[in-house]
Amino acid sequence: MAKIYFVTATDTEVGKTFITAGLAFVAQEKGLSVGISKPISCGGIDDAEFYKSKLKLKDSIDSINPIKFRQPLSPYAAMKTEKIKIDIRAIKGSVKKLIRPRDLVFVEGLGGALAPVKKNYYVADLAKALNIPCIIVARAGLGTINHTLMTIDELKKRKIKIAGVIMNGFDSKEPSQASNAKVIEELSGIKVIGKIKAKSSFNDLVEQIKKQRIYEKLKT
Ligand SMILES: Nc1ncnc2c1ncn2[C@@H]1O[C@H](COP(=O)(O)OP(=O)(O)O)[C@@H](O)[C@H]1O
Ligand SMILES: [Mg+2]
Repeated sequence: MAKIYFVTATDTEVGKTFITAGLAFVAQEKGLSVGISKPISCGGIDDAEFYKSKLKLKDSIDSINPIKFRQPLSPYAAMKTEKIKIDIRAIKGSVKKLIRPRDLVFVEGLGGALAPVKKNYYVADLAKALNIPCIIVARAGLGTINHTLMTIDELKKRKIKIAGVIMNGFDSKEPSQASNAKVIEELSGIKVIGKIKAKSSFNDLVEQIKKQRIYEKLKT
């Protein structure tokens, strides 16, 4: 049975795609066969293209990213003008198809845990429907405690397992970065399993993931 993780974040543009690609790269180097799913995109297929450019993936852009909204909106808002239906059962089916022949699958959400997918249905509900542990990507600096604790709460509320928090964008310029991880761990009981530097090249990212053993620290 493949290991499978859902990747969410405290916001959009926090580093879900970048860090997921790094984790998947490290897993491929270990010889694992990896699948990536970005079930819904809004405003372009950049994420699926990024995965294709950095990883050896057999799947087409369309099977990685089956539901594509043109506008950079939440799916809930984009659905009002673009005639695309979101069928959760179909998403589950597309993820299942990826799992069967693979050792490891990452499913990237969109935005954060409470980005609305449809009426009364959020990204966190999609993670719950898939019933897989969540990786939370969080910012390094001031404000991240609030965003990360709120995200953890939304996942805990739905009894979703949390595989770990990965903090992204350390630059040593901003004082809260030195204590944020510890505060998040103390207040939530969830481990910060990785800290990634700002302005990392993809190679730098991969080196940090290996050095910190972030892939190995993911809880299942
Ligand atoms: N640690 C980092 N160092 C350098 N660039 C980064 C880092 N983290 C993210 N980025 C870049 O920031 C942008 C947003 O990250 P991305 O992974 O696309 O966010 P998300 O998937 O959460 O929306 C991308 O261009 C990505 O390559
Ligand atoms: Mg992304």
